[in-house]
Amino acid sequence: MPERKIKLTNGGKEVELSIAESTEGPAAVNISNLYKKRGYFSLDPGFVSTASCRSQITYIDGDLGLLRYRGYPIEQLAESGNHIETAYLLLNGELPTQNQLDTFAQEIRSETKIPSGSWELMQAFEKEAHPMAMLMAGLAHLASIYHSELDVFDEAYRQRMARRLIAQVPVLAALGYRYRTGQDPVDPDPELDFTSNFLHMMFGAEPDPLFSHATDILFLLHADHEQNASTSTVRLSGSSETSPVAAVAAGVATLWGPSHGGANEAVIQMLEEIHASDVSVEEYVEQTKNKESHTRLMGFGHRVYKNYDPRAKLIQKICYDLLEKHGEGNPNCPLLETAMALEQAALNDEYFVVRKLYPNVDFYSGIILRTMGIPLDMFTVIFAAARTSGWVAHWLEMMADKQFRIGRPRQLYTGHTQRDYVALDQRD
Ligand code: SDX
Repeated sequence: MPERKIKLTNGGKEVELSIAESTEGPAAVNISNLYKKRGYFSLDPGFVSTASCRSQITYIDGDLGLLRYRGYPIEQLAESGNHIETAYLLLNGELPTQNQLDTFAQEIRSETKIPSGSWELMQAFEKEAHPMAMLMAGLAHLASIYHSELDVFDEAYRQRMARRLIAQVPVLAALGYRYRTGQDPVDPDPELDFTSNFLHMMFGAEPDPLFSHATDILFLLHADHEQNASTSTVRLSGSSETSPVAAVAAGVATLWGPSHGGANEAVIQMLEEIHASDVSVEEYVEQTKNKESHTRLMGFGHRVYKNYDPRAKLIQKICYDLLEKHGEGNPNCPLLETAMALEQAALNDEYFVVRKLYPNVDFYSGIILRTMGIPLDMFTVIFAAARTSGWVAHWLEMMADKQFRIGRPRQLYTGHTQRDYVALDQRD
């Protein structure tokens, strides 16, 4: 297909820009020469219309509510796959054979032995410290341990670090939990699969198979999501050729925010707040429409999805399955009912319909985590442990790109033009 171009004309001058073609989704106007050719920057706060890179990892269609990892629909992966297989797929681009899967799982298992000092580091924190802060510190400690090996242009180094991060972020998460709950650390059990081992390190016992399955699917569903804020942070941070461990620590910092990964924690706080108050679901929805209230319907809305987040549907089903078996006297059952009522109220409210605001991945996930006994402030840590596969997959893709270069956005300067210094005694 001949290369498509687009012409920009102003002031009698024109510039021709090429169109970068996609395999699915919007094509892109390649503006990398715009400044050189015409002296203009492009302006796109929040990157609503900006593709930061080419990627073959994850495809999202926000209007249709589609999510595919390397072309495979998330529904099929959740139905028939598991998290470790999905991590292999994200990193390598193809589903593994049995032998490849066994080898990969063993490589991950062999990296769960975390360097000494991590437990002592956790103990330096207040017991009430937020576990996302502890996770960031734990990663900074690992970055120091692995710094002598830093060689980001060596493929073997990159693959080894990708496996280390996938294996060791959950271990740091479990260490933080054990310390904060006044318990000794639990060593990884090489006989268990990835997510059962994680729950075992958290709770010190072999988990209920239903909990293992629910956690595995949650990890799978949270593994990657294109160029979201934390993944973009990992890419930009990694583009300076820094350690991938440091870049993932930056991703954790970004994911922590309530507009991003921190929303799962905020959803439960919202559901509990509604319960504790005598505010009806309808009244609460009204509040979230009022900008002055500075309250949003947490777990609703998405920059890309203008339809139901496919992950939310799958997570809602896990909620049902879990509460069907563990619902007796479970305080989360009324939370699920409230969540369902909120969803119905919002989906039938003009404000949400017009703005195409639907439940996102965070709306129901907290109910599952709570049912499994995972404390509220650990929710985003679980998200980070799952998203590490996506973060390292994007880091690997970026570092292998022949056109790799450091990311350095420009700006539209709107500050003062030049002015002269005023001596202190001359200022009024
Ligand atoms: C994740 O990017 C990813 O892929 C992220 C993620 C991933 O897997 O990595 O999917 C994970 O972060 C999911 C999102 C979790 N965050 C929340 O649930 C927090 C609540 N949602 C929002 O704050 C908001 O919807 C965002 C941050 C998710 C999206 O923000 P946008 O795209 O910048 O949308 P916006 O703020 O411009 O909102 C558009 C309009 C505004 O109203 P108007 O100015 O047009 O009148 O919709 C309103 C907003 O006020 N709006 C909401 C709302 N979300 C948007 N109003 C009430 N409740 C909400 N939740």
